[in-house]
Amino acid sequence: MKNRSLVSINDFTKAEQIQILNRAAEFEKNPSQRILQGKVVASLFFEPSTRTRLSFESAVNRLSGRIIGFSDASSSSTSKGESLKDTILTVSNYSDLIVMRHPIEGSARWASEVATVPIINAGDGANQHPTQCLLDMYTIRQTQGSLDNLNIAFVGDLKYGRTVHSLVMALSQFNTTFHLISPSELKLPSSVKMYIKEANLNYYQYLDIAEALPKVDILYMTRIQRERFSDPMEYERVKNSYILNNSMLADSRDNLKILHPLPRVNEINEDVDPNPKAYYFQQALNGVYVRQALIASILGL
Ligand code: CP
Repeated sequence: MKNRSLVSINDFTKAEQIQILNRAAEFEKNPSQRILQGKVVASLFFEPSTRTRLSFESAVNRLSGRIIGFSDASSSSTSKGESLKDTILTVSNYSDLIVMRHPIEGSARWASEVATVPIINAGDGANQHPTQCLLDMYTIRQTQGSLDNLNIAFVGDLKYGRTVHSLVMALSQFNTTFHLISPSELKLPSSVKMYIKEANLNYYQYLDIAEALPKVDILYMTRIQRERFSDPMEYERVKNSYILNNSMLADSRDNLKILHPLPRVNEINEDVDPNPKAYYFQQALNGVYVRQALIASILGL
């Protein structure tokens, strides 16, 4: 993985993905080490973020590296009309690794083609979110003991949900049964469904969350993302499609864990939070260990 970019989860083989998860488990036991001394990581966020940006920053700080960058493109020379290419070429001169979030699909691939240092895609529009995918895999393995032979439900915005796209692609490498729950307007794109089909795995599509809930080991909730809709009326029609509350979990499996990449709006009622099946904040914590493992591996440390 040394000196390689991570733009799509498929840029790393299954064996490499597992290697990252195993290394993350070591960082979980011992998160404060000095292995990044003298290294500079650039964090370029052209789109808002809480977890991804701050967990990358936490990961670098806990490993004694330095982090530079911006969290708002309006404070960068992008606002003066600078191209992404020029920004990336410039920041390549200042850093050993660039973490970038950008609203345009394909921007991270483009950046990786012009950069002289590795690029980690921290989310490109509605396309991919590979580092979230690795922390989701880590969390699933941590809670279920394995990534194989699981029933996994994805709920909400499966069309624009980049975390869903990356995780479906990754879980298609394992013996997963997929339960896809969305409004008809927000179904999983066929370009992503293709990975399930090519792996000869089963998937079931539902409109109603209650139909799938008793059958699954992981319930992966997602936000309906207002910022991805070009038609505000369409967003209004679907925005309250799924609201999980604690009473709905009565017939769920004992081993069920509820995940969510966060942020949430109203799709998980706060009365779910005290339920031991709610695991989304532990999931967000795992982002630090997984990103430590990823940075260390890409920098060859
Ligand atoms: N999961 C995730 O990408 O969250 P942020 O948008 O807060 O980074």
